[in-house]
Amino acid sequence: MKPHVLQLNPILVPSINVTLNERYTMHRLFEQADPDAYVAEHGALMRGVITGGHTGITRAMMERLPVLEVVAVNGVGTDAVDLAYARERKLPVTGTFGALTEDVADMALALLLATCRHIGAVDRFVRGGLWPRFPQPSALPLARRVSGMRVGIVGLGRVGRAVAQRVEAFGCPVRYTDLKEIAEVPWAFEADLVRLARDSDALIVCAAADKARDLIDAPVLEALGPRGFLVNVARGRLVKEADLVKALQDKRIAGAGLDVFADEPNVTPALLDLDNVVLQAHRASATEETREAMGEMVLESLAQALAGQRPTHSLTT
Ligand code: 8YV
Repeated sequence: MKPHVLQLNPILVPSINVTLNERYTMHRLFEQADPDAYVAEHGALMRGVITGGHTGITRAMMERLPVLEVVAVNGVGTDAVDLAYARERKLPVTGTFGALTEDVADMALALLLATCRHIGAVDRFVRGGLWPRFPQPSALPLARRVSGMRVGIVGLGRVGRAVAQRVEAFGCPVRYTDLKEIAEVPWAFEADLVRLARDSDALIVCAAADKARDLIDAPVLEALGPRGFLVNVARGRLVKEADLVKALQDKRIAGAGLDVFADEPNVTPALLDLDNVVLQAHRASATEETREAMGEMVLESLAQALAGQRPTHSLTT
């Protein structure tokens, strides 16, 4: 008998789905017309769960899965998983740690470059047929140079470090803030986020959201200032979105590049009206290469846990 596994989010890599189907009886909740009724009917069978970093899993859902042996997160953020309850039940919660670092850092750079160089706004200008109508160079405001900008990194984990390495190649001096100073890195630590913002031209949010929220608020944005840029590739809830919208509208910061939002997939409508923002749809890890590597780690974690072993990439046990 194949173990039953409940999958909360789609996986877009065909080979991973083929292996899942070979090894397990898969229950894809996102395909069910009535997910609640589906869990009521089949929940008692589930030995494994696969979820996304953003979706996680609540205590209430885990309580409906009495023989659950593992929660495999197809991502690195575990902020949406009730880790305390998982620990109580001695459930391993696994992640794809290390698999998406490079792609998320690439996205941070893409957003920084796109925002500072007005890539989105000018793309709209060209597509909209405006260039022939406004051929004078003055039709488009001058952009800002990324090379050499002072970059402040909020959260110097794997992703933060990969961002730091990349911007160094652009000649950018790097400072960072984190819960505490990290001895083995070459970059300057700044304990105070407002001070970091004041001394940065671009602030790049790479922090985990397990404990923190609303880190980037009006005082931080005020300190970043009218020539400063914000990039967020971590979690939407780390930024006080109302404060960010206000700062962008009032030109109290220069622009923002955002891959994540407070209430995904809903984006504050005011952001859509602003030309000084570049928006993505939580896509930083969404490359074929990374999603395949992540899928392989999910397969490994499920296999280990359901064979009674401690999964290599477990956070909780
Ligand atoms: C993924 C993420 O998009 O790793 C995370 O925590 O939020 C993202 O990289 C997501 O987990 C995919 O399911």
